[in-house]
Amino acid sequence: MGRSSVQKQPKRWDLYQNKSRMKWGVLVVAIVITIASIVYTNHIVRKLKEREAQLVELYAKTIEYAVNVGNRDEVLFLTQNIIVPNNSIPVILTDGVERPLDFRNINIDPKLSPKERQKKLRELVQEMKEEHDPVQIVFTDENGQVYDYNYVFYKNSFLLDQLTYYPIVQLSVIAFFIFLVFYVYSNSKTNEQNRVWIGLAKETAHQLGTPLSSLVAWIEYLKADEDFNYPEVLEELEKDTHRLETITNRFSSIGSIPTLEEENLYEVIRSNVEYLSKRISTKVKVNVETNSAIVMAPINRSLFNWVIENLIKNAVDAMKAKGQIDINLVEGPEGGVVLDITDSGPGIPKDKINKIFIPGYSTKKRGWGLGLTLTKRIVENYHQGKIFVKHSSPEDGTTFRILLPGKDYLLDAEEADTLIGRNSV
Ligand SMILES: Nc1ncnc2c1ncn2[C@@H]1O[C@H](COP(=O)(O)OP(=O)(O)OP(=O)(O)O)[C@@H](O)[C@H]1O
Ligand SMILES: [Mg+2]
Repeated sequence: MGRSSVQKQPKRWDLYQNKSRMKWGVLVVAIVITIASIVYTNHIVRKLKEREAQLVELYAKTIEYAVNVGNRDEVLFLTQNIIVPNNSIPVILTDGVERPLDFRNINIDPKLSPKERQKKLRELVQEMKEEHDPVQIVFTDENGQVYDYNYVFYKNSFLLDQLTYYPIVQLSVIAFFIFLVFYVYSNSKTNEQNRVWIGLAKETAHQLGTPLSSLVAWIEYLKADEDFNYPEVLEELEKDTHRLETITNRFSSIGSIPTLEEENLYEVIRSNVEYLSKRISTKVKVNVETNSAIVMAPINRSLFNWVIENLIKNAVDAMKAKGQIDINLVEGPEGGVVLDITDSGPGIPKDKINKIFIPGYSTKKRGWGLGLTLTKRIVENYHQGKIFVKHSSPEDGTTFRILLPGKDYLLDAEEADTLIGRNSV
């Protein structure tokens, strides 16, 4: 039994889960790529470091050889002209007490006096010492006796330095890129959804329009027909066409920029509740309370009725058609309006509260999960208001709160709380 109902859950569930799974997938792939490339860069850096150390070693050994054994001029030529110039490792050759004798691959201002230049080189030697241990050159005489030392100090080549910082640069670029992709993706997604919403609504209103006006004409025709003796049929037909007109009106309003008019919200809600009460279970009691019989706010009546209807329907569903719905309307001194709709249902689990406004989220067998999405859209996009779950628990049921700007003034959550508090005293 349970199994078949799980299988019957429509596909939109998968869609919703797929989307967030895909997001995680993209994130995981991005992290793997980043880690892999950092590890690889580190590997290259290590290799390059080894190679540079070997080169410096080679340089030192060649000098050592030249002085101790070889044909000095030839070997020195090899060192100074081939080994050192052909790589970019900055080196300083010093005597046994670290006094600089020579240097390569270091930019020193040619305008410096010999003294200044020497000072600069000494500083550099200190810097290099911190980075790498120097390579020692041992000078020996014919008998193999050590008579002097030289040192080669060196530091990372510019290339190696750059490569060391590369992962940080790379990370920032990747992070920026991911951010950009997500931003563009979600933006284009929202735009696309908006177009679908509006397009579908407009088209529905348009499609319903033609048969509806034809129906109205037929009713008028039958009314005028003296042979047609079923007034109760006509009455029912009129009710249905009226309902269809309301629906068409809603769809055409949401498919265009709706006009807002100053209406008495209390009256709008009361008459809507009266209408809905006849259509829901008699075991549901709906109370409407207000701090003023006239609460003016700029609204689109047909869309706002849709909001109330969605919230009441959800409440009735949650209470399994038995319980109480309290609607509390309060107008602030500056004109902002608070509207609380509380049911005596079982509440919404805490971890589900931030999901209920997502299109497609529904816990009902026949639910589309669109009611609250639409409601939020109407309140926030079309009325510049706010809607949220004010409270929800198994003991006290669920309270949805709507804040509407009256005379261009939108209350904040705290003001709304104090106002409602004052009202309920
Ligand atoms: N008053 C409430 N009490 C408890 N749960 C609620 C209440 N209102 C909404 N919900 C939960 O939020 C879900 C989403 O509501 P929503 O109105 O968007 O979709 P739906 O009612 O399931 O389907 P439909 O598209 O027909 O409205 C519901 O399925 C329900 O689980
Ligand atoms: Mg609903």
